[in-house]
Amino acid sequence: MEKTNRVSFGSKLGFLAAAVGSAVGLGNIWRFPYELGQNGGFAFLIVYLFCAFLIGWPLMLSEFAVGRMGQSNVAGTFIKITGTRRWSWIGVMGAVCVLLVIGFYAVVCGWSLEYIYQAISNQFSGQTPQGLSESFTIFTTGTWRPILWLVIFLIINCAIVVGGVQEGIEKTSKVLMPFLFTIIVVLCIRSITLPGGLEGLKFLFTPDFSKITPSVILSAMGQAFFSLSLGMGCMLTYGSYMRKENNLGKTAFQVVGMDSLISVLCAMTIFPAVFALGIDPSKGPELVFITLPNVFNHIPGGYFWGILFFILLAIAALTSTISMLEVITAYVSEQWNINRKATAIGTTLVIMLLAIGCSLSLGVWSDFTILGFNLFDFFDNFTAKILMPIGGVAISIFFGWVVDRKSREAELTNGGVLQLKYLKLYTFLLKYIVPLAILAVFIDQLLR
Ligand code: PHE
Repeated sequence: MEKTNRVSFGSKLGFLAAAVGSAVGLGNIWRFPYELGQNGGFAFLIVYLFCAFLIGWPLMLSEFAVGRMGQSNVAGTFIKITGTRRWSWIGVMGAVCVLLVIGFYAVVCGWSLEYIYQAISNQFSGQTPQGLSESFTIFTTGTWRPILWLVIFLIINCAIVVGGVQEGIEKTSKVLMPFLFTIIVVLCIRSITLPGGLEGLKFLFTPDFSKITPSVILSAMGQAFFSLSLGMGCMLTYGSYMRKENNLGKTAFQVVGMDSLISVLCAMTIFPAVFALGIDPSKGPELVFITLPNVFNHIPGGYFWGILFFILLAIAALTSTISMLEVITAYVSEQWNINRKATAIGTTLVIMLLAIGCSLSLGVWSDFTILGFNLFDFFDNFTAKILMPIGGVAISIFFGWVVDRKSREAELTNGGVLQLKYLKLYTFLLKYIVPLAILAVFIDQLLR
């Protein structure tokens, strides 16, 4: 394998901040709490943790290892490792998947900016729940406002990625992630100490195992995949910037642990607040944009907490979209030999077009559908149900079966330096459990 002097993250902490930043996003704050609320509270949490550690961890470790082994972008790494182009389709598919994910994700990122603005200009105050719901619908189905916000968001995102791996991504993550963590802990304490808030915790931590059906297990796994940014080469790309002396298994474990912790903290923030006001806890996606502003209207200091919450949402979203843009930027600039800055800007323009399409598909373009879905939902479903699972299976088969055992173990142990007690368990999970479990989800979802 040829040696390259690839840029790397400057420190272990910097890497961790960036990888956790990629993982923690709308998936944790927006999706996890309502999935938990709808699927049996604590029982769902247990199932989720099993999925995150038994499927997510081995897969994340494998993505890190494949990236660091080939020292290249999402497609180039497969070419460098095998010396052929036979497996590079995994990477190309990953890059396409990321492009589609960021297309719809950026729309919601834009909403988070609008809601920071609304919170600061005190627009929730005095509105009834009905009014909040109507203004959410009017805003999201409107034409110009959501586009304006998503364009602003994507420009900020682009500026960070143009800054490079160390100066842009690492520095930003190192500042934003501790900030994010502090905000969430503060919000969580505020929420639990509301009168009646403990009821929400009781709801969260009382398991209702009757709600655990095969389809709930499968949705927990889908959530783990999305929340851990797996199956499309994000962690692979970040892994390629990892230093040779870093402990991949431990780092992957820390990322999975932090991501799960933050998901749980988000749920522990949202449910006590919702219970304190006597609102139905199993509310779906509107939990964050309609229910919470209503909560902020009713609690002391709600003006301030509202601003803080939507800043949290925007930061979490931003550190995720940075990692998405990096996947495509590294791929296009390295494989096609184009200047990195030009690539990041060009890619951002393409993403803007896709995101504008997704945004309009909720309003004036809602009549245009693909297989019965508007563009936004089509991108969401096509990536989550088809591309990510295929990517996950492909990576586990590649690293578990195609790469020979000696090279695999050399990469995992840093050339024999580390003694890994979990090597056997990891290999078993990687070769059998991960692909079979993902296939089960895949087939189930196709049949639904
Ligand atoms: N993990 C992010 C979240 O939970 C989403 C994401 C998916 C980020 C894929 C990067 C790649 O919101």
